Amino acid sequence: MRYVKLAGGESCPAIGLGTAGLLEDNCEQAVRWALDIGYRLIDTAWAYKNQSSIGRALRKSSIPRSEIFISTKIWRDNLNYDGVIEQCGQILNQLQVDYVDLLLTHWPSDAHIRARHEPTNITPLEETLSAFNEVYRQGKVRHLGVSNYDQDLLHQAQTLSKVPISVNQVHFHLPDSICTENVSTSLLDTCQKSNVAVMAYCPLGSGWCPGKGSLLQSPILAGIANQQGKTSAQIALKWAMNQGAIIIPKSGSEVHLRQNIDILDFEFTTEQMQLLDSL
Ligand SMILES: NC(=O)c1ccc[n+]([C@@H]2O[C@H](COP(=O)([O-])OP(=O)(O)OC[C@H]3O[C@@H](n4cnc5c(N)ncnc54)[C@H](OP(=O)(O)O)[C@@H]3O)[C@@H](O)[C@H]2O)c1
Repeated sequence: MRYVKLAGGESCPAIGLGTAGLLEDNCEQAVRWALDIGYRLIDTAWAYKNQSSIGRALRKSSIPRSEIFISTKIWRDNLNYDGVIEQCGQILNQLQVDYVDLLLTHWPSDAHIRARHEPTNITPLEETLSAFNEVYRQGKVRHLGVSNYDQDLLHQAQTLSKVPISVNQVHFHLPDSICTENVSTSLLDTCQKSNVAVMAYCPLGSGWCPGKGSLLQSPILAGIANQQGKTSAQIALKWAMNQGAIIIPKSGSEVHLRQNIDILDFEFTTEQMQLLDSL
């Protein structure tokens, strides 16, 4: 496994399991497969409604808790002080753990998420971060982070938080003209220059991505996959990882879980890199 160093000195596995959309027994099974295969990073959220299933998988595994990195998120409408404290408690109860490794704000407090969910409780960032610092102080959380933050908001968060902002989890994959939400590599640069690790969601341009997997249909990816003896999905994941991102592809399939972690044994040629950069 490759690791990415976080602010504060600890490391996070560079490949993890995304779990949005995995529920109940399917979720428990996917996490158990993932842990057996070698995944040590599991990404979840209060909003995914699957933390109890993940908790069951963790309890049934013989892997020590200290070797597993759990990343989770406080929902946008709970970012007021008491809301964070309460939801963090619910998260620990659902997962049946004493602490999580990374706690993120799922979205900025005023985010309009594809206009389907209007914000109901807009909260100053200072108040949110005060609560995040408190759960950190109490030992319930080992690292603090944000998600879906642009440069400006990230900078504000870094200024307001006493504890470093270790991670910004953002929508990031190879360019795909159908997806309008993919963040730019310049956001990655900004994060990395200020010691904030980037965690790439929708790294396959699939799942929640508006591209709905069109990226994986690219003939350029298929050609490179053929040359490397890999799949198009593995090419997309390797590219995102090579940008310095921690990647969290979601899968409920044992075959895909194995493929998604099996990307460390090849490198792109210069020509292949140029082709990927041209997408
Ligand atoms: N912070 C946020 O706001 C936010 C937003 C969205 C997502 N996330 C996180 O990021 C994770 C990943 O994002 P995502 O699930 O939306 O998108 P994704 O990982 O890009 O795509 C997941 C989809 O790709 C398929 N897939 C997985 N491995 C594959 C492979 N090797 N070959 C072909 N298809 C494959 C999966 O199907 P199978 O299950 O059949 O393999 C699933 O339909 C989420 O699960 C969640 O943890 C965070």
